[in-house]
Amino acid sequence: MSVLVTGGAGFIGSHTVVQLFEHGEEIVILDNFSNSSPDVLDKIRQISGRDFRFYEGDMRDRELLERIFTENEIEAVIHFAGLKAVGESVEKPLEYYDNNINGTLCVLEAMKAHGCKRMIFSSSATVYGNDNKVPFTEDMKTSATNPYGWTKVFIEHILEGVCTSDREFSAVLLRYFNPIGAHKSGLIGEKPNGIPNNLMPYIVKVANGEYDHLNVFGDDYDTVDGTGVRDYIHVVDLADGHTAALEYARKNKGVQTVNLGTGRGTSVLELVKAFEKASGKKVPYVIAPRRPGDIAECYADVSKAKEVLGWQAKYDIDDMCADNARWALKL
Ligand code: NAD
Ligand code: UFG
Repeated sequence: MSVLVTGGAGFIGSHTVVQLFEHGEEIVILDNFSNSSPDVLDKIRQISGRDFRFYEGDMRDRELLERIFTENEIEAVIHFAGLKAVGESVEKPLEYYDNNINGTLCVLEAMKAHGCKRMIFSSSATVYGNDNKVPFTEDMKTSATNPYGWTKVFIEHILEGVCTSDREFSAVLLRYFNPIGAHKSGLIGEKPNGIPNNLMPYIVKVANGEYDHLNVFGDDYDTVDGTGVRDYIHVVDLADGHTAALEYARKNKGVQTVNLGTGRGTSVLELVKAFEKASGKKVPYVIAPRRPGDIAECYADVSKAKEVLGWQAKYDIDDMCADNARWALKL
């Protein structure tokens, strides 16, 4: 029996595969490399000392899915594959809805045809929208402000519907907060294409001299130092959350929604300072206007993760910065 990991060559997927191997799981990966590269697969083999079947292709390719489910006994799917750039989703909504929603439907249909009834889904804190108060709890109303966010809201509803129609189905909706950091080996980590939208990859490019400064988007929020506060979580902690969710899905049926965060908020300037300390590099910054659509604070209530999955984050912001710097700056 194997676990199918869609998007397993990506940032969170690759770290999760490594952690799944530590738990003795058998893995099959599907990825079309639209936002990753084949060398990651060798790095996963190098770190884990384990091999796996890999299928290169698109999750919307029904024939390919049929082949994967016929050639392997898939017991559960951990579903990372998806497009994730908020700004791009505003420019290309149809591409996002097709890839993320239609792609998920294709995976669910193949699962149905082969009697596979467990899915762990990569949702996002973005589903808390703009109107809820921190810390975010799983029972809050969901919404979105852009097509990317809506794909997460809709897929959550699709999985609820699947579980209502099939009482044997188990879906764990994991709402990730802000994953950063990298594997301790320095062999895998985040590699964004083009100009990074997210804070940590941007900090890295300032630290290595590619850009001369960071734009800090607003210093007049009602936060500890006026800059935006987020719940950064080490990607290896996040990966471990998936092994816990898989165990849970094997023992329980129905939908379960769980936040994966640390429960602690860190401001932009606090992250900059922590990265400078961990890397020994300067990160010059200038205060810029607020970024449209940003909220002041976003952090999780993590009590349900502990209670339901028996999981909690182990690494702090200094660990995240040290591992991120080792990977990205090859320190
Ligand atoms: P990533 O882009 O590094 O990984 C996604 C992988 O899926 C890539 O390897 C890409 O090539 C693959 N992929 C995309 N569309 C595909 C398709 N149609 N068929 C096959 N493969 C396809 O992203 P990540 O940061 O590892 O995120 C993984 C998941 O977690 C995504 O669904 C993302 O929306 C979600 N998520 C990410 C964050 C974050 O900040 N990184 C936060 C919340 C949720
Ligand atoms: N920021 C800057 N300068 C930058 C980039 C970011 O000051 O160059 C600030 C932002 O204003 C924000 C904080 O750094 O206060 C974090 O920004 P990110 O873009 O790294 O992360 P977000 O929380 O805004 O967004 C992330 C994902 C989204 C997801 C959202 C909620 O990118 O996909 O978390 O989970 F929807």
